[in-house]
Amino acid sequence: MIGLAGAAVLSPVDLKAMEEEGLSLFSQLSKKEIDEKYWEEIKSNFILADGLRYFNNGSLGTCPDYVVKATNKFRQTLDSFPSKYMWGGWIDNKEEVRKKAAEMFSVSKENIALIHNTTEGMNLIASSMDLKDDDEVLLSNHEHSSARIPWKYWQESKGVKLVDVDLPILPESKEEIVDKFRQAITPKTRVISIVHVTNTNGMILPVKEISEMAHEHNVLVAVDGAQSMGMFKIDLDDLACDFFTSSSHKWLFSPKGMGIFYARREAQTLLKPLIVCRGYHTKTIRRFENYNTRNLPELLGLGAALDYRDLIGQNRIENRVYELKKYFRSQLSNTKKFKFKTPEGDDLSAGIQTVEVIGRTSREVKNKLSKEYQIDCRPMSSHGLNGLRISLAIFTTKADVDYLVKALKKIAG
Ligand SMILES: Cc1ncc(COP(=O)(O)O)c(C=O)c1O
Repeated sequence: MIGLAGAAVLSPVDLKAMEEEGLSLFSQLSKKEIDEKYWEEIKSNFILADGLRYFNNGSLGTCPDYVVKATNKFRQTLDSFPSKYMWGGWIDNKEEVRKKAAEMFSVSKENIALIHNTTEGMNLIASSMDLKDDDEVLLSNHEHSSARIPWKYWQESKGVKLVDVDLPILPESKEEIVDKFRQAITPKTRVISIVHVTNTNGMILPVKEISEMAHEHNVLVAVDGAQSMGMFKIDLDDLACDFFTSSSHKWLFSPKGMGIFYARREAQTLLKPLIVCRGYHTKTIRRFENYNTRNLPELLGLGAALDYRDLIGQNRIENRVYELKKYFRSQLSNTKKFKFKTPEGDDLSAGIQTVEVIGRTSREVKNKLSKEYQIDCRPMSSHGLNGLRISLAIFTTKADVDYLVKALKKIAG
């Protein structure tokens, strides 16, 4: 039973209370019938402000109460004996979190570093690559600034060429995207650095197919998984990329300032730590998370978030995200007042859907949603989107979607 909801990462003083909390959650969540009531219960595990309808998980996730409490307990434990817990007392607990993160991705824990966020992981990759003048790095034109600026700063400044691959907003198939990258590869291409799920319109890039194609050309593949980790099941061996970096404070609902970084065994030798201090000699992946004093309560809180995820189950989470997507799209697709700017196929999008209200600017609609309906979502004006980015997460109920749809229809007129 999920190691009693995080008990494995808790110190003895916390164990009893957290076990009780874990058991009560377990009895709620292990119900056989997965109906809308079940998801309403899940929603009640989260502590969003009263009345707020939060469709902005793509910007930042929220923690279930259980994770908040567990993290607070870790903070208390740390402050009960700071030097003990910061330097040694939690070594095994930290390894337990690494193991859980590795299990989520079906890889060895020797491939996983516990970092702060996607931005850090992209900096680690981009700063490490030993590229020369005229070498080329391919990026999609939908990269987040945190996945583009590191390449500009660490490599373009040396004369390395960054080449943008322009992607259609509404591709018809995965092959269409793979072909764009295939056509952009030249003998000078060394790395393809791509986002897994775009933060602009939620489009899923076919990382597996791009990686397989890239490897035929001896090109490395780095993936920004900020919006994909936690949204659906990811098997990193199967995905076949060399590096994957993500933020657990989005779709994994962990405390803020935690990220998970993956590097294939052989690819780890290409990396140089961004920060060095005592222990930098280690040959293991732990050298990339070696900051000396660091945010350990949040790191252990990530363990609690992974336990919470296990309580629900990876498949159930993925199915729910797709169910919400279908439900949302079906309610807006039969009117000419809206246009989806996200491809529909389940292989091309999941929990992020960007929709335009025809005749209105995305900013104007966002402001109305926020002021008049307490709905939070992200307006997207880049890439000709002019849409609202709607994030559909496990704490979203169908009633929330109905409320959003009604508001959008009112605003559309
Ligand atoms: C696709 C993508 N990459 C990277 C980031 C940066 O995430 P973080 O600030 O957690 O590093 C974000 C944040 O929204 C994102 O959406």
